[in-house]
Amino acid sequence: MKLAIGSDHVGIELKPTIIEYLEELGHEVVDFGPNSTERTDYPVYGKKVAEEVAAGNFDNGILICGTGVGISISANKVKGIRAVVCSEPYSAKLSKEHNNTNILAFGSRVIGSELAKMIVKDWLEAEFKGGRHAKRVEMIKQIEDN
Ligand code: RB5
Repeated sequence: MKLAIGSDHVGIELKPTIIEYLEELGHEVVDFGPNSTERTDYPVYGKKVAEEVAAGNFDNGILICGTGVGISISANKVKGIRAVVCSEPYSAKLSKEHNNTNILAFGSRVIGSELAKMIVKDWLEAEFKGGRHAKRVEMIKQIEDN
């Protein structure tokens, strides 16, 4: 898959490990920053990655901040984005199967690298189930369109 990744100055701690892991799994990863631990603002990178995914330039996006909360809220403001913040693999997998999430977020202050890898892998391997779930995702889209 072609994946877009971004973080803030806190999430950057975990980002290189996740990029390396994604590349090991055979994915193509583009890092939308930041590239240093200098203090920055998570909405900047949440928006960047979300816009790239919404434009269809990437299959999925991954965002990391301290908790995953601020950066996922920011991404969800971009039309067409369904970002989920997860600290365990079950919700990550179901968020793809039921909600067709296109961005996964997590917090470098919340989970360790091994759990993060497990969450990322399960999310990327999951597939949207469609059917009754498609109707509900369409209902989300209608909220967005109004
Ligand atoms: C930065 O201090 C912190 O607020 C940010 O990384 C994130 O946790 C916000 O949701």
